[in-house]
Amino acid sequence: MRTLIKHLLAAAEPRERVEAAGWVRTRRDAKGFSFLELNDGSCLGNLQVVVDTGTPGAEHLPHLTTGASVIVEGALVASPAAGQKWELRATGIRLLGGADASYPLQKKGHTPEFLRTIAHLRPRSNLFGAVFRTRSRLAYAVHEFFRDRDFVYVHTPIITASDCEGAGEMFRVTSTGAKSGEGPAAEFFGRPTYLTVSGQLEAETLACALSNVYTFGPTFRAENSNTARHAAEFWMIEPEMAFCDLQGDMDLGEAFIKAMARYTLEHCAEDMTFFARFVDKTVVERLQFVVDRPFQRIPYAEAVRILEASGQTFEYPVSYGLNLQSEHERYLTECHFKAPVTVYDYPRDIKPFYMRLNEDGRTVTAMDVLVPGIGEVIGGAQREERLDVLEQSLRFHKLRPEDYWWYLDLRRYGSVPHAGFGLGFERLLMFLTGVGNIRDVIPFARTPGNADF
Ligand code: 4AD
Ligand code: MG
Repeated sequence: MRTLIKHLLAAAEPRERVEAAGWVRTRRDAKGFSFLELNDGSCLGNLQVVVDTGTPGAEHLPHLTTGASVIVEGALVASPAAGQKWELRATGIRLLGGADASYPLQKKGHTPEFLRTIAHLRPRSNLFGAVFRTRSRLAYAVHEFFRDRDFVYVHTPIITASDCEGAGEMFRVTSTGAKSGEGPAAEFFGRPTYLTVSGQLEAETLACALSNVYTFGPTFRAENSNTARHAAEFWMIEPEMAFCDLQGDMDLGEAFIKAMARYTLEHCAEDMTFFARFVDKTVVERLQFVVDRPFQRIPYAEAVRILEASGQTFEYPVSYGLNLQSEHERYLTECHFKAPVTVYDYPRDIKPFYMRLNEDGRTVTAMDVLVPGIGEVIGGAQREERLDVLEQSLRFHKLRPEDYWWYLDLRRYGSVPHAGFGLGFERLLMFLTGVGNIRDVIPFARTPGNADF
């Protein structure tokens, strides 16, 4: 039976008969034998295979070029040469699928930009192997984090009729067999529907029954912003806690980021060595720093004062009442505090309808967690739990309370203070790996004008 290369490389002792399979990275021919570097994606490392010219199947050696797939049987022995602990001495080799010289992944390194044009093959590169293994481990870490804290994992719908963020940046959902005409009768669901921008409103209904819940699923935004941090389809982690205020919300967000940084350092060590060498030299120190140091917390008004006094020239203006742009967020975390920063109490005008109005009547209990290199990774809030204030807030944001009758019911029957946040999984991965473009932490990126593959 085949053994994954990661297990062969980690073997404690030699093994007389094993089978490995993978894709050829390189082949070197010497007199009487050849070396193959084999990778199966189970880990960063390659298995060195030594094939004598007399080995059954060795007649295919000329076809064992970069990209070809093979199965090798042989003995795992200590490698006499430097560079690897073990090597596989082939006793039999079988070519499964050849790859000719047009195979686009040749030995020399390729840029992430080029690899995006071959998204179906890029997982075979070192960079994307490392990214997707890390992505998988982190997804487990997310579930572990919440399970350890007694959160209930809930699945919120992907098709929804409400615009949670009120920003109107949504994709319409219709059926291909749509009836002609307009209006409710022509709609599959009897009303206009969209791909969800956030599972928050539905998560709130579950939190107001199960106490602590979280969702983790795909989210869609039709923002026409072609930046390195925005995707049209991304995964969001959204915890929601009943009987919780803004402080508790910030505590959870900060604990979550610390836990993910710690997990990455502990469980993704091999792939992190790759990121530290080829992607971002400072990534390991940065994560250690986040694990060790407390986050800074400041109200929005203070953030604006710091930015105004900074003497920096920013592309976008800074003044009380305007949104913080990513350059401002990055100045705060990278230059001013040199630490992750949680900014809270934003003006109500620039935040969605569901946030709790503060005593001052001007700000709401919003909080954004900003990290170096990215800016905002978390956006959250304590929710407005007072029925009358929430209705006013809907009107203030030009929304119709009757459209949100079910959401308002949570405030009508046994309302409780509650809070939560959303964290973009891809932004978290960018932060943890140092990869600078969101397109390179998603297997198949969806951005304006791009949905190939
Ligand atoms: O700040 P946002 O818009 O907050 C919400 O959607 C809330 N309803 C969440 C909640 O309270 N349950 O988005 C939350 C996070 C952002 O901080 C960012 O990390 C990520 O989602 N995000 C994106 N990630 C990639 N591409 C985009 N276009 C993103 N838009 C938001
Ligand atoms: Mg936000």
